[in-house]
Amino acid sequence: PAVDDVGTVVTAVATPARVEDLLSSETRPDPYRAYADLRAQGAVHPSPMGIAVVTRYQECAEVLSDPRWSHANEAELFHPGVEHTELPASFLWMDPPDHTRLRGLVSKAFTARTVSDLRQRITRIVDGLLDPVIGAGTTDLVEALAYPLPLTVICELLGVPASDHPLVHGWAPALARGFDPDPLLSPRERVARTDAAVELLEYFGGLVSRARDRAARGEPATDLVSELARVHDHGDALTEHEMLATCVTLLIAGHETTVNLVGNGLLGLIRDPDQLDLLRRRPELHGAAVDEMLRHDSPVHMTTRAALTNLTVAGHEFAPGEGVIVLIGSANRDDRAFARPDELDLTRYANRETVAARHLSFSLGMHYCLGAPLARLEMEVLLTALARRGAQLELDAAGPTYKPNLVLRGLATLPGRIN
Ligand code: HEM
Repeated sequence: PAVDDVGTVVTAVATPARVEDLLSSETRPDPYRAYADLRAQGAVHPSPMGIAVVTRYQECAEVLSDPRWSHANEAELFHPGVEHTELPASFLWMDPPDHTRLRGLVSKAFTARTVSDLRQRITRIVDGLLDPVIGAGTTDLVEALAYPLPLTVICELLGVPASDHPLVHGWAPALARGFDPDPLLSPRERVARTDAAVELLEYFGGLVSRARDRAARGEPATDLVSELARVHDHGDALTEHEMLATCVTLLIAGHETTVNLVGNGLLGLIRDPDQLDLLRRRPELHGAAVDEMLRHDSPVHMTTRAALTNLTVAGHEFAPGEGVIVLIGSANRDDRAFARPDELDLTRYANRETVAARHLSFSLGMHYCLGAPLARLEMEVLLTALARRGAQLELDAAGPTYKPNLVLRGLATLPGRIN
């Protein structure tokens, strides 16, 4: 080891973090030190992909809530040269008026009130997943709990039969990885993304035609795919491709995100048993705890925007078409916005005296996550079920592993025990 001039052993030479460090899969388990370092250096950083990275809370919030920052150029910025079939034309990547039209068609299904009617059903799903895991020894908690919970919920809402869950499980991870910038993807991953997108669009085409047959027999179903088919067939509110792309978006956004909330949230509780104890003693905290978990280890680490006009962020000028990466995972740990930002404090959002800043995990502005009430409810029901059982969580010596995903960052495996 190196020794400095007063004789102290220097174990690590601190080099300032660079944006390039974030791209390396080595920083996936803990990108937070690099984020802190980048925030200290400045609010806006150039990146090797030619897109500036915004790291501080205030500037991230500013970009997300300003409609002069478009989300329609995601493909051009991150996936240049990609055919639209490879990234289905979803309203997530549209500006008004198309965004407003398509979001309006599905938004009623996800209001807080509609979603709260699902509490009982979600509780049954959680109990069904939890019962075989408790006391069963080491289990991969991602495979047994974090993945199947949101997958089952969103499939039931869409009308995807349980027998098709393995098919979905085969396609979805390839699309989730495909959210990352193309230069990070291997040729195989790019092909897998295209195949998954094409096959999922075809799959929903099949569900839609079955829904139409049922409607023709006078037995219409009430799942979301059937509702969208009805809207399409009784007017010109959306095209056939938009209808199928909306189904794919709801399916992927509905579970490849929430799996990270559940996985990261469970890991947070395992690492901080005092917080788990707090949940057992104070059930009234369960709702607020979900928001703190969303803040502390964000399930979606970044999104992009492109300037529609000349815009300035923290003194940096952007011409029309120039893009930014909004680093949500970093904004949520900014000590300019949050006291003790690296601490998981499940009382943070319950404490009325010290109102915590809003986290950016569901974004802000017109693209604010449509499924936020659903994702919150799924995690809250799980926390309540764990607390009710007085559950103890333990990590296996093997430790967790991470997916390579940069945008939808989260655990690949979480070997552990629940007693
Ligand atoms: C949009 C995060 C769960 C559906 C978004 C955005 C974020 C996000 C950050 C906006 C991206 C941007 O501004 O560029 C999350 C997280 C979730 C979650 C962290 C879980 C913890 C869900 C669920 C659904 C869903 C369960 C269910 C349907 C959507 C849709 C959009 C969206 C449709 C696009 C909204 C629009 O463009 O207007 N989500 N999401 N999400 N989310 Fe979620």
